[in-house]
Amino acid sequence: MAIKVIYDCDTGGDDATAISIGVASKDIEVLGVTTNFGNLALRQTLRNTLELIDYLEKDIPVAKGSEVPLVRDLWVGSEAERRLPIDIDKAHSEPVDLPAWEFIADQLRKSDTKVTLIPLAPLTNIAKLMIFEPDLVREKVGGIFIMGGSKGWGNESPSAELNFYADPEAARVVFSFGMPIVLAGLDVCEKAYITASDVERFKDIDTKPAKVFYNICERGVREYGSHMQNLVGEPAIQMYDSLPVVYALHPEIFEYVDAKVYIETDSGLCDGMSICDTRPAGFHNSGDIPKLTKVLLNVDREKYFDILEKVFKEAE
Ligand code: RIB
Ligand code: CA
Repeated sequence: MAIKVIYDCDTGGDDATAISIGVASKDIEVLGVTTNFGNLALRQTLRNTLELIDYLEKDIPVAKGSEVPLVRDLWVGSEAERRLPIDIDKAHSEPVDLPAWEFIADQLRKSDTKVTLIPLAPLTNIAKLMIFEPDLVREKVGGIFIMGGSKGWGNESPSAELNFYADPEAARVVFSFGMPIVLAGLDVCEKAYITASDVERFKDIDTKPAKVFYNICERGVREYGSHMQNLVGEPAIQMYDSLPVVYALHPEIFEYVDAKVYIETDSGLCDGMSICDTRPAGFHNSGDIPKLTKVLLNVDREKYFDILEKVFKEAE
């Protein structure tokens, strides 16, 4: 039976690749996509998501989410207008009539099986869901696979990854909620990079999700690939948001460490930092803290691309 999934996105290029994988896979049923501010302002992430779903010709509901963080002032990655490289210039669909967290709650109530949440943006919508519907989340959420954070380092600041930097308080709510989480942070993203020759594998796959993936990755490597040149010896980009989706399909290709994850919210330079306590029980002052988060550290890159190629070729 297919895994039921709800995405929470700040679409955004790599969010669109993640949605395309879910839409393409026969093993994933996408119940909906909610949108959050983050890499871009909400008005852009919502528009990009609606355009993407229309391009993919799928009847998947999209919900409008948070425009600002839980408590602090708005920060967005870029004010620039960013469109997806897809052959559509206007969405015809409208968002559903519920805010994101209420839409997710509604889907959880309606579902007769557990639902996996895949948050790929600042965690504002997910924190609201946990604050307002904690029992429902405990009862109906079967997995929380997040792109964000890292084992203690950053991209948006020296210490914080963008999704957690943009709303540290929301990330703190989610990681103190007390449910198991899988964290695809910067550590594993650095290992799952895509080069120009990797991208070519997807060029001739004649399905719409594959075209989305190819166009976004091709443009990404061409425009931003030099950022990773020193690390991998050729232009490449990180796959960020696609990682939790591939984890949902094939967890066995990943390596991870169990950790108790804390989010820093009150120290200026380190706000949004994810501190991963991996100390064994009884080691120094570690006590016996529950290590509820699997922090992904590595992935088999060859298998990763084999899986994506298969999924995209099978898409309808
Ligand atoms: O730091 C990477 C994250 O920031 C990804 O989710 C990307 O889409 C942006 O939101
Ligand atoms: Ca994202």
